Amino acid sequence: MTKHQGERLLKELGAGIAIIGCGSATPNQVMTNDDLSHLVDTSDEWISTRTGISKRHLAATDLSLSDLSAQAAAQAIIMAGLTPADIDLIILATSTADDLFGSGAKVQAILQANNAVAFDLTAACSGFVFGLITAAQFIRTGVYQKVVVIGADILSRWVDWSDRSTCVLFGDGAGAVVCQGITDNDNLLGFAMYSDGQQHDSLNLTYHGQEKLLREGVTINQGTYQPITMNGREVYRFAVAKVPEVIEKALFKAQLTTDDIDWLILHQANQRIIDAVAKRLKIPPEKVIANLDEYGNTSAASIPLALDEAVRQGKIKAGDVVASSGFGAGLTWGAAIFRWGV
Ligand code: ACO
Repeated sequence: MTKHQGERLLKELGAGIAIIGCGSATPNQVMTNDDLSHLVDTSDEWISTRTGISKRHLAATDLSLSDLSAQAAAQAIIMAGLTPADIDLIILATSTADDLFGSGAKVQAILQANNAVAFDLTAACSGFVFGLITAAQFIRTGVYQKVVVIGADILSRWVDWSDRSTCVLFGDGAGAVVCQGITDNDNLLGFAMYSDGQQHDSLNLTYHGQEKLLREGVTINQGTYQPITMNGREVYRFAVAKVPEVIEKALFKAQLTTDDIDWLILHQANQRIIDAVAKRLKIPPEKVIANLDEYGNTSAASIPLALDEAVRQGKIKAGDVVASSGFGAGLTWGAAIFRWGV
């Protein structure tokens, strides 16, 4: 097929995307800042002034990442007016799968989305934005029409609960959207994505193992993943510098300016980061969505969780332009500018 024929076919298929449903799920157990002050040397005053976080929801022992993800996805599918059988593809953005082989297929089974192919995508706190952009590529090329993108993480299982510099930050949750192919428009208006592995050591959840001799001359390494380590100041500096930049790049591709943004939804890592980015972009506080006060940093879940709350509260309405940006381990960062609804 020639390039021209390919483009014509894409046009016929109607290679645009609309984001038509959202959902979210958080665990019932809540840990407040005061609760944490009994665990490590910290205070509600320190945590709330430095981060904006008051509490976090933590998954109980019997709650799986797959269940939490499926709950969020089921809500999104209902809002989209679809059934699980309509879904072609499920992308599960997570760093904390129940199974290192992936949990996407498990989510597919729980949802009974029997016609969907499912896979995991790992890009830490950028995972949802990377997942949304990945979904759009499948839709724009006409391969799939109805795609669920889930951002979900249970970082409480990987936090060192004796390290006050990290344990106060994270919470658990899941959020999801449904994207659909449309013929007359493309509501993913612009995007940009970046990685910088040179800064990989700033934020890690790494594998540590020990040497195991299988036979003379054959040695392997066996172990497990170790709790999160983070250079908070480095990550803070990185976020405040790179997030405004990547949003501006995505806006440029969308041929929009910051004035066109109705809502800013950043990865919910720290209220001070959110405020600094909004200030740099000259976006007024009333356009900024934040819910980390209630949930802390839920990693890949934070953007769809905040989106879902804002849509259900009636803040974000069909046709509104949302600028979203995720950033985190890798290091990775990205932005997606989209129009909500059809
Ligand atoms: N309670 C009380 N004191 C604390 C705590 C705490 N929980 N944590 C650290 N401190 C102390 C430190 O020990 C230090 O004390 P010292 O001055 O005596 O040495 C002091 O507070 C200041 O520490 P800083 O690390 O400089 O504090 P900072 O103002 O930078 O805030 C924070 C730390 C909140 C972690 C901030 O750097 C931050 O938000 N960084 C970005 C993190 C982030 O965005 N991560 C996103 C990626 S998430 C992902 O991809 C999974």
